[in-house]
Amino acid sequence: MTACIVGWSHGKFGKLDNETSESLIVKAASEAIAHAGIEPKDIDVIYVGNMNGGFVRQEFHSSLPLQTHPDLRFKPSTRVENACATGSAAIHMGLNTLAAKKARFVLVVGVEKMTELNSAQAGEVLIKASYVAEEANIEAGFAGIFGKITSAYFQRYGDKSDALAKIAVKAHRNGAKNPFAHFQKEFAYDFCRTPSDKNPFVAGPLKRTDCSPVTDGAAAVVLADVSTALGMKQAIAFRAAQHVNDFLPMSKRDIIKFEGPALAWKQALGEARLELLDLSFVESHDCFTSAELIEYEAMGLTAPGEGEKAIHEGWVERDGKLPVNVSGGLKAKGHPVGATGVSMHVMTAMQLHGSAPGALQLPNAKMGGVFNMGGAAVANYVSILEPLR
Ligand code: COA
Repeated sequence: MTACIVGWSHGKFGKLDNETSESLIVKAASEAIAHAGIEPKDIDVIYVGNMNGGFVRQEFHSSLPLQTHPDLRFKPSTRVENACATGSAAIHMGLNTLAAKKARFVLVVGVEKMTELNSAQAGEVLIKASYVAEEANIEAGFAGIFGKITSAYFQRYGDKSDALAKIAVKAHRNGAKNPFAHFQKEFAYDFCRTPSDKNPFVAGPLKRTDCSPVTDGAAAVVLADVSTALGMKQAIAFRAAQHVNDFLPMSKRDIIKFEGPALAWKQALGEARLELLDLSFVESHDCFTSAELIEYEAMGLTAPGEGEKAIHEGWVERDGKLPVNVSGGLKAKGHPVGATGVSMHVMTAMQLHGSAPGALQLPNAKMGGVFNMGGAAVANYVSILEPLR
């Protein structure tokens, strides 16, 4: 255990017409520093997680947190990018900086402003996170990539549309309890299961309700080394943090096996000396409902091809044996790419600290897992968090 989250903040996710990436960063950074109970001058190093790639014209984001307070001027700050795992990548850079004893306090801000583009244009940006040489012509943006993966999964294991619809229903039921979520309403099973004008096919077997939305938002954490964290008002420790990259081309992999995510989970549970079911809950990367389905298998909750059991048997519901995405996940909370990994860590820290808002709080949340994924199971990050004391 080398580091802790000692402060955090999470803005409302959604279509935020009156915000810019700058305003989102400034708000998230100042609230996280205040929550940690420190002063801006105490921050030693800053990382900004932002994918961008054309969502907004402003590409160079590293110095924008300095707009928060004059005392942040001249602090070293770097923008980090690792596709949809950008937020966790930024957090891992912070952990490495603390492990190298180059800082006592690191500020990590994750941000994305996506809705200045329409869905089709956003899809054009997102598809750049595929292996462009072979995959960029797949239709429907990144949904097209997961449409292909889902079709291949159905071909091998049978049609799992019932399970996908149940995963969507679970996400929205949970998201309805989360005041930070993009969508805060429940969706009926029949609506999610049945194609309609309001729920058309987007790519392959994936319908609109199987996709995470295009969202704006930001979240931030303050990280500190363990001895510093012992003196802080709250401290959520990293019991494990693992990062595994796989080949980028889908043609070089059995894409429905999610081998990179499986290895990241195996290494993280090994580092933490835990079994999966020792965790009280998991926040997992449900960019599409089929991603969550395959992740049940990658994390070891079911055997390959049997992920549907986890949702049909209720294991991953809020009151199940391993609740998955009680926050509503990317599906309901939204997926502002650069913010997502940070958001997953903030949601987990809140649960473990006992300060998740209202009905979102789980009873007896003692240990939480986070799985954040960049690309089609390419950049894979698992964190296991627990209260320091
Ligand atoms: N789930 C459920 N409802 C959604 C939704 C989603 N993902 N996206 C939009 N909606 C709703 C809107 O709220 C709106 O509802 P309303 O009519 O009641 O106001 C309606 O659907 C139409 O919204 P619109 O934005 O016009 O939909 P769209 O068809 O342009 O976009 C997707 C829908 C699924 C194509 C888009 O959200 C998308 O591209 N998602 C994937 C993003 C992605 O690839 N992320 C990276 C993953 S790795």
